[in-house]
Amino acid sequence: MCGIVGTIRVEGSVVKGLIEGLRVLEYRGYDSSGIAVARNGAVELEKRAGRLARLEEALADGHLEGARAGIGHTRWATHGAPTDANAHPHTGSDDRLAIVHNGIFENWLELKHELEGEGVRFSSDTDTEVLAHLVERRRAEGDDLPSAVRASLARIRGYYAVAVLSTGANGPELVCARQGPPLAICTTDEGAYLASDVLGLLPYSRDIVFLRDGDVAELTPGAVRITTKSGAPVERAPERFEADSEAVSKGDFEHFMLKEIHEQPEVIARTTVDRIRADAGDFVFEGGAFDDDFARSIARVQIIACGTALHAGWIARYMIEGLAGIPVDVDFASEFRYRNPRLVPDTVALAISQSGETADTLAAVRLARELGASTAAICNMASSTQVREADQVVLTHAGPEVGVASTKAFVAQVVAAYTIAVRLGRARGTIDRERGQVLIAELEALRAQVQTLLAERVTGRVLEVARRYHEAKGFMFLGRGINFPVALEGALKLKEISYMHAEGYPAGEMKHGPIALIEPGMIVVAVSSRGPLAEKVRANIEQVKARGGVVVSVGSDAGSHAISDMSIEVPETSEWLSPILNTVPLQLLAYDIAHLRGCDIDKPRNLAKSVTVE
Ligand code: M6R
Repeated sequence: MCGIVGTIRVEGSVVKGLIEGLRVLEYRGYDSSGIAVARNGAVELEKRAGRLARLEEALADGHLEGARAGIGHTRWATHGAPTDANAHPHTGSDDRLAIVHNGIFENWLELKHELEGEGVRFSSDTDTEVLAHLVERRRAEGDDLPSAVRASLARIRGYYAVAVLSTGANGPELVCARQGPPLAICTTDEGAYLASDVLGLLPYSRDIVFLRDGDVAELTPGAVRITTKSGAPVERAPERFEADSEAVSKGDFEHFMLKEIHEQPEVIARTTVDRIRADAGDFVFEGGAFDDDFARSIARVQIIACGTALHAGWIARYMIEGLAGIPVDVDFASEFRYRNPRLVPDTVALAISQSGETADTLAAVRLARELGASTAAICNMASSTQVREADQVVLTHAGPEVGVASTKAFVAQVVAAYTIAVRLGRARGTIDRERGQVLIAELEALRAQVQTLLAERVTGRVLEVARRYHEAKGFMFLGRGINFPVALEGALKLKEISYMHAEGYPAGEMKHGPIALIEPGMIVVAVSSRGPLAEKVRANIEQVKARGGVVVSVGSDAGSHAISDMSIEVPETSEWLSPILNTVPLQLLAYDIAHLRGCDIDKPRNLAKSVTVE
């Protein structure tokens, strides 16, 4: 959840590069930040609670300039409030080393008590500081830095990516280690660089080394030496990362979220184009994922995900059951992993994740594998743990998603799920060639349809709705069938960036409780597409109106629009693809409301982009 950077250079000052790296990674955590540099035989640091700008102010006088090695951190607090003292880096008892950390040391308190019993004084409430003292002690006993880090981590239980900066007899030293959360490294003739996200390395190189769990890496200018936990050297070949740097800038947009919403037509094309086999009415995936033999062997699909990715999973369930006739279960990854699940033979556990690093999702899939399932992933990050560990992978090509609120990654996940459902249906004979061709044609039309939703006629209408209701008491989002998860997603988008109370419900559930919330001032967003369930949604709209609620209908059902207070019309597509078209206005609505309420859209409070801790 936190962002980590580190640099060791042949010459030149590292402060600017560290700050630029933190700026790119700030979306991972943004309640405090800090840097440490090695200079004149000592480690010096500066850290501040609050946004990165506060740290920059503190560094403006240039007092840390001139160091050729340093580490930096942007924090999402787990242990200890976001204060200056709890901000990273953390040091030991003297000024010889500093540490930054992403993750959780589970046995930190036990270790802290042990160290306190031996006279160590702690200056923060964090779990991280424990490691600083452990490494410092091993150093005092004569260990070199990599050995001291390995020996100290051997005492720690938990998940982490750490970077340790130290001053040695021959100048600064930089070591990092991974057990869980991601850590990437690159080297150039001028230096070596580390970051918890590849985005932090793109200014230096496209050839990226991804550490594996248990790896400890020693960085020197232009080189990296990696060992396992036990100290055995290992080779990790660099992988080429192709995303362009445009993808991580806001361009002409005010926020990443808005830019990413507008990228969605392109994302749909990128995620599908090379996979379409129009003549065969089928899709084909790289690496032979979901080939005929595998597709025919599946008895059940167990979808596992969190948050927005879980909503894509709910939609995938309707698609896979409806198009391929395979039973599907969907579970919150955090629940699946602790509920003692039972899986039938020939289950495929399908993880859906933008980052591929979500701790609960990774753990749930590992459990499914232990229980005998094969594993598959729909994922946006080719270099992620999720992708590396899955038996079959369908990558989404959404490009880097920086806004904390997931938008284009969701659309890409739903599109990928659709292509998998059609592939499974073709392999199992529930979809013939002609039907496959129709399903492909509908998908090919989608890009232009999303484009129309981003044109002024629709965005202007969404803004009108936002202006009218951005101070409402609360929102309820209702949808049915394959559009019920769209209601969940609409509510999640709104609450996470505008902090308004918003509930998402299957419309048929309304009278089993939530209808009690309906009163003047309560806004109900009814997702209503033409089709067999439209009539039922219209009945729900009438029930809301009869109790004084205000209804905004979103979808292609003109009948629903006719009886609603306001409406946002969406082009007509098949039932299967309607969730994508219905979601786009809801993303825009959440954006506009958050904007009107003056919220920090790309960095909403308390959240982080990638949840790499439990
Ligand atoms: O990286 P992942 O897709 O696994 O992340 C899952 C959720 O944490 C994520 O979708 C989260 O719910 C988003 N902030 C929602 O906008």
